[in-house]
Amino acid sequence: MNDIISPDQIAIRQPDDWHVHLRDGDMLRSVATYTARQFARAIVMPNLSPPVTDTASAVAYRDRILSAASDHGHFTPLMTCYLTDSSDAEDMAQGFQSGVFTAAKLYPANATTNSAHGVTDVANIMPVLERMQKMGMPLLIHGEVTDADVDVFDREAVFIERILSKLVDQLPDLKVVFEHITTADAVDFVNGSGANVGATITPQHLHINRNAMFQGGIRPHAYCLPVAKRERHRLALRKAATSGSAKYFLGTDSAPHEIHAKESACGCAGIFNAPYALESYATIFDEEGALDKLEGFASIHGPQFYGLPLNEGIVTLQRSKIIVPENIAAGGATIVPFHAGQELGWQIVG
Ligand code: NCD
Ligand code: ZN
Repeated sequence: MNDIISPDQIAIRQPDDWHVHLRDGDMLRSVATYTARQFARAIVMPNLSPPVTDTASAVAYRDRILSAASDHGHFTPLMTCYLTDSSDAEDMAQGFQSGVFTAAKLYPANATTNSAHGVTDVANIMPVLERMQKMGMPLLIHGEVTDADVDVFDREAVFIERILSKLVDQLPDLKVVFEHITTADAVDFVNGSGANVGATITPQHLHINRNAMFQGGIRPHAYCLPVAKRERHRLALRKAATSGSAKYFLGTDSAPHEIHAKESACGCAGIFNAPYALESYATIFDEEGALDKLEGFASIHGPQFYGLPLNEGIVTLQRSKIIVPENIAAGGATIVPFHAGQELGWQIVG
């Protein structure tokens, strides 16, 4: 596996996306195909409006995803349960045991898009988390505090200090995925934790630092949450992703918003990277001289963490310059993809 066929071609097991927003309705029908054509499975975020908080709504949402991705018959959406202060532990546990839910997602209330129903204090869901620990159900965390007095660039580091470190001490066997990490502090925390603590890393946080949001003017398409940080953090993330450590795995956090919702006086957070996600990651691993580590990150560490089988399919990438389109048509709407108008160094050829 991870055959480096030549310096210009690499074959890896088919990857999975361990964090994606597929949305609903017309948007779902437009974007699902981009994820389904690259990835065998995807952990689907539950932050719809209203959020997916119970088994019945997860089953219905999964059906809508499967129908939207029906051109890609092999694609398996893995559903997540949105935790609230009043989560129904019994329903969630049954949903997990019956195979509907793969994990549960903790959004601190108001941390990001559609998180108004999120958890106001982790203490409120302690019984739910204890139950998850017992069942081996992974907890996926959006790791940012929301206090108005904490600088937006410090929210992840403060979350580690005030909440995550305590949670991991209190529940030492709980499987925790620290989602879309953006800081060297997060890398240090994950490296210093047990094997039950892993992290996803997005392509954008490997490619851009916070300057990208202000390059010659305000750049809404470089804005996502958690926001990109300083260069030293980007470098720490690149090192972690390409290190070969089983704690790190691919999670795009692809989060489409229509162009008018991004290019607005109050532009939405989220970067739509699904159309060229694997090409984007491959470019990074190549730049780091670590193409031999791509398969672990993209296709092995995730399933191992979740206790799922590895995919059997193979994807072949070739060194070849591609230009990412400026726009992607989404039904009647337009979405600007990550890397719009830019060049990437790798292409999927099979
Ligand atoms: C996500 C979205 O738009 O749903 N936005 C983002 O910037 N990543 C929410 C999230 O994952 O924080
Ligand atoms: Zn997300």
